[in-house]
Amino acid sequence: MIGVIGGTGLATLGEQPEHAIESADTPFGRASDVPCRFPGLPNAVFLNRHGGRHTLLPHLINYRANVWIMKNSGVDAIIAVFAVGGIARSLADGDFVLPDQLVDYTWSREHTFAGPDNFQHVDFSEPFDAGLRQTLADSASRIGVDLCDGVYGCTQGPRFESAAEISRMERDGCTVVGMTAMPEAALARELGLPYAGVCLVVNPAAGRGFASLELADMQKVVADAQPTLRRLLLEFLQLVEQ
Ligand code: HPA
Repeated sequence: MIGVIGGTGLATLGEQPEHAIESADTPFGRASDVPCRFPGLPNAVFLNRHGGRHTLLPHLINYRANVWIMKNSGVDAIIAVFAVGGIARSLADGDFVLPDQLVDYTWSREHTFAGPDNFQHVDFSEPFDAGLRQTLADSASRIGVDLCDGVYGCTQGPRFESAAEISRMERDGCTVVGMTAMPEAALARELGLPYAGVCLVVNPAAGRGFASLELADMQKVVADAQPTLRRLLLEFLQLVEQ
């Protein structure tokens, strides 16, 4: 079973959702929403990390509850969808990126399941699962979508970055910037869930474009990319079954 965690880039997987589990409550507090299943998608469970009404800001998301509830819904791997800003000058709005690494700039988020009763230091050298990434790349090439590798820099938000912060992130090796991959990716690793993501570039990162960053402009890019993003995920869900 594949858990798809969507957000700004993808609010749902289809029509007529049914609850995959009864409640959003977990031992770590409430998840963003109740994970859903969709008719015709037998191997998928979907969760919108910003909540059903898209009201949860990135720094206020209960990532522990979200990852835990996905595991408890029977999921054995997670594909995450992210809206991001493009740092690399080669990236344009509407491009898709398959992150192969990340740098975490977040702070103060509840970021681990580890504790005195659960002593662990997980290996995180490769945050994104190679097998899932390969299947995503294969799915993209089957439907004729370009998917380039990249390094995801995760910032705290909810404000966007300063131009100097983006220049620093570029020096750090980041090619895209978003606010939600961490601690999600690390928590999935702690629960033993292979994790990979697809980024949709919705704006040039701060200082890289001509205009100031406006949510409405980003939402337009998201709306235009929905059919392609859904096709990519449906292709992926079919391919993992084979
Ligand atoms: N910065 C951080 N997060 C984002 C951006 C950005 O420019 N665009 C979409 N999510």
